[in-house]
Amino acid sequence: MQARLQKILSQAGVASRRAAEKLIADGRVTVNGVTVREMGTKADPALDDIRVDGRRVKGPERHRYILLNKPAGYVTTRSDPQRRPTVIDLLRGVREYVYPVGRLDYDTEGLLLLTNDGDLAARLTHPRHGVERTYEARVAGIPDEDDLERLRRGIPLDGRRTLPADVVLVYPRRGGESVLRLTIREGRKRQVRRMCEAVGHPVRALRRVRIGPLEDRTIEPGQWRELTAQEVAALRRASRPRPAGASPRVERSR
Ligand code: URA
Repeated sequence: MQARLQKILSQAGVASRRAAEKLIADGRVTVNGVTVREMGTKADPALDDIRVDGRRVKGPERHRYILLNKPAGYVTTRSDPQRRPTVIDLLRGVREYVYPVGRLDYDTEGLLLLTNDGDLAARLTHPRHGVERTYEARVAGIPDEDDLERLRRGIPLDGRRTLPADVVLVYPRRGGESVLRLTIREGRKRQVRRMCEAVGHPVRALRRVRIGPLEDRTIEPGQWRELTAQEVAALRRASRPRPAGASPRVERSR
């Protein structure tokens, strides 16, 4: 069956949809011996000879859905120009070309999804679908009700206010720190760190504890497990596109 080249490449596990577009733009993809740079080009992996850098691209490979508990000190990328350890280094035995869905900072710990399912990855990272992510942040000081309300209503970052968030003060700790649980619906760069900084309570440690329907406190840092079929189905439901103009799902629980 015919499909767009970038879709064929991502389904074959060659690269994410976006990275596949770059491969095409860079002139590294050929169909039946002809270099293709046109983005909408279609081909049929069963009939056409599709190659990246001269290597034949085969049909779709088995989809993998991996839930990793990322430790601090790892970069969320497939390869790091600075040669720091990457999350891929933790996935011994995974032969498929999985890539991280979204990003956790080098210093952030917690749940990270990796997959070679380009469709689901694209849906989960699309801002309009608003899949919730929950973080636990150890912050300096003890935010008061006013600070918590500002975080809930949204903080202007780069000229645009963050979407409403659920924010709970879990407990104040000794030593002038406290733990906040924040549920946000976007994935802006260093969002939680910048939000907390803006209300005068910088983050000292950050961990993601939930991605949409996925939660698991039993995975040790650096370890991973495969999602169950039920979890994959729940993720698909949670990332289903909503009609244009619909507001993001916001459940206000405090
Ligand atoms: N917000 C941040 O500030 N950092 C992360 O890694 C994730 C969310």
